[in-house]
Amino acid sequence: MAPSAEKKIVVLGTGGTIAGTAASAGDNIGYTAAQVGVAQLLDAIPALPTVLAGHALLTEQVAQIDSKDMSVAVWQQLAGRVGHWLTQPGVQGIIVTHGTDTLEETAYFLQALLDPPKPVVLTCAMRPATAVAPDGPQNLLDAIAVARCPGARGVVAVCAGTLHGALEVQKVHPYQVNAFSSGDAGPIGYVEEGRLRLLRDWPKAPTGQIPIAIETVVNATRWPRVEIVMNYAGASGAMVQALVAQGVQGLVVAATGNGTLHHDLQDALLAAQRAGVRVVRASRCPNGRVLAQPGDPIADSQGLSAVKARVALMLALLQPP
Ligand code: SIN
Repeated sequence: MAPSAEKKIVVLGTGGTIAGTAASAGDNIGYTAAQVGVAQLLDAIPALPTVLAGHALLTEQVAQIDSKDMSVAVWQQLAGRVGHWLTQPGVQGIIVTHGTDTLEETAYFLQALLDPPKPVVLTCAMRPATAVAPDGPQNLLDAIAVARCPGARGVVAVCAGTLHGALEVQKVHPYQVNAFSSGDAGPIGYVEEGRLRLLRDWPKAPTGQIPIAIETVVNATRWPRVEIVMNYAGASGAMVQALVAQGVQGLVVAATGNGTLHHDLQDALLAAQRAGVRVVRASRCPNGRVLAQPGDPIADSQGLSAVKARVALMLALLQPP
């Protein structure tokens, strides 16, 4: 689509169920994700011109994948395109269509890397584009309402009329259309009939995050290997020892409760740390955060879930020395 007005909204497609197709309209689970181009998805929404309110729409297909297959290569490409469009005059906001499965990781990655002064709105769907009642078109319209909202900034996710911040958003349901939660932080707001009802502030740079240049990330040819291990009844140090033997550079442990670890797993993690592996403790609880105590031998994730703490640790390890 060609730009036709001063103010622009850019939609970057990456795939997902929002672009998925099924053989029959009644099938909401037996579909193939990432089949329909982003321009075609937007063209099929009759209410689009009303919600755009005179803004021009530009589309780019950055990737076409099921987000379970998200890779650092796609993140690098996406970060490059988001970074490019953020600097272009007239661009009010950027929308990224994305699969729901790893949306929270991409949201955190973009927020931590770019801390954008304009809105970068990730949106998605739980039902394929061919469904009898697809949720993607409404989510796209809501995302446009957020992208053109004066004062909006940061990376957010819009799904089922709810606006989540990049630091808190988590997929919490494998089927329902309202699949995301912001945990006990609560959502940033709601989108109601094209209007935003804000409950709290827009996302900010994550606490303690050392800024990293976008070029360092986009041009990196080798990313640090950071893996996630979990504490559970009967956990041992075997996984950690195997990963250290393979040369892992960072480990995030999804700990029980307030960051507790089986003593065998803890011993293995401390040995890994002594050997130079960076180790971070997140809680596997979906709400709250690890409340650190003085002298804790393993750093906590500053409230990030294990998957987001992994992204944070990869970015930290990508920093030039
Ligand atoms: C995906 O994450 O790409 C597939 C699942 C979804 O979008 O709901």
